[in-house]
Amino acid sequence: MATILGIESTAHTFGIGIARNGKILSNIRDMYHTESGGIVPNDAAKHHKENSEKIYFESLEKAGIKENEIDAVAFSQGPGLAPCLIEGMKFAKKISLKLKKPLVPVNHCIAHLEIGKITGAENPIMLYASGANTQIIAYESSKYRIFGETLDIGVGNFIDNFARIMGIGFPGGPKIQELAKNSKNYIELPYVVKGMDISLSGILTNLKQKFESKKYSPEDLAYSMQETVFAMLVETAERAMAHTGKKELLLGGGVSCNSRLQEMTKKMCSERGARLFVPENSLLVDNGAMTAFLGEIMFNKGIKVSAKELENLDIKPRQRTDEIEIKWK
Ligand code: ATP
Ligand code: FE2
Repeated sequence: MATILGIESTAHTFGIGIARNGKILSNIRDMYHTESGGIVPNDAAKHHKENSEKIYFESLEKAGIKENEIDAVAFSQGPGLAPCLIEGMKFAKKISLKLKKPLVPVNHCIAHLEIGKITGAENPIMLYASGANTQIIAYESSKYRIFGETLDIGVGNFIDNFARIMGIGFPGGPKIQELAKNSKNYIELPYVVKGMDISLSGILTNLKQKFESKKYSPEDLAYSMQETVFAMLVETAERAMAHTGKKELLLGGGVSCNSRLQEMTKKMCSERGARLFVPENSLLVDNGAMTAFLGEIMFNKGIKVSAKELENLDIKPRQRTDEIEIKWK
């Protein structure tokens, strides 16, 4: 049994979670917000630096453990915004040296996927819908294979951009969801699915033109955006399920918190006799608990970097999900 501290800092969120024996003991995080406008990487990194110590001690307290019970420190090595990743890695190295415990470098996207195990999913198709990423993934012969993905921007960034156009601050997703609940008036939007891939930038341009024309209400646009774009996600996920014969769908990433997306995927799964698995919201958005959870699995397989070899360890801002050799399954 290992006790693993996990650090998340890839973008807007600084989080520290603690996992032991596949259970989450704590999951504390703080998110960088803006009133209007998007994320400024250096400001987010400053936020992480300023909050790291406080979150560390809060997480230990919540878990009810002492520093010396930690066996290893897992951290998100990539992908993400370089200034943010650097703050997370610096803090991980500091704790590793202080406690004389090894580090476990974790891929952020795979952490979003692996945490799904906590829901009981065994062999799912995964719909990974987050800020920078939108991918349909399944595990096959030691890799997470990407069956389909966005050909331009991630669905979360798309929604945040759409929100910004309408003068709503970051993150836009939860506010757009609330706006959408006040409409049932569907306005036709482009629908762009190519096989198992999707494209979003044309829809964003179209929404911008519609909003600037002042002919449509923000509520109707938010509602129509969700109905269109989520239908695209459901269609591609369903195609991957049909193609692979898999009977489970697992949601991951921050956009999966959206109740309408959950409703639509649930309907699709029940229509094809499949099961839907959705982790709780605090494990869908960026968080340190998922880093700790995957960190424990990797640590138990002997994947670690000792406190003496830290100098060679660096961040990987552009690391891809299908590059990683999954040595722990
Ligand atoms: P990545 O994992 O690709 O590196 P990320 O780490 O920025 O991206 P997450 O923290 O997983 O992504 O998700 C953040 C995104 O989720 C933001 O774009 C945010 O607007 C979106 N989001 C959060 N809640 C909702 C919601 N209820 N509806 C739609 N989108 C949401
Ligand atoms: Fe993420």
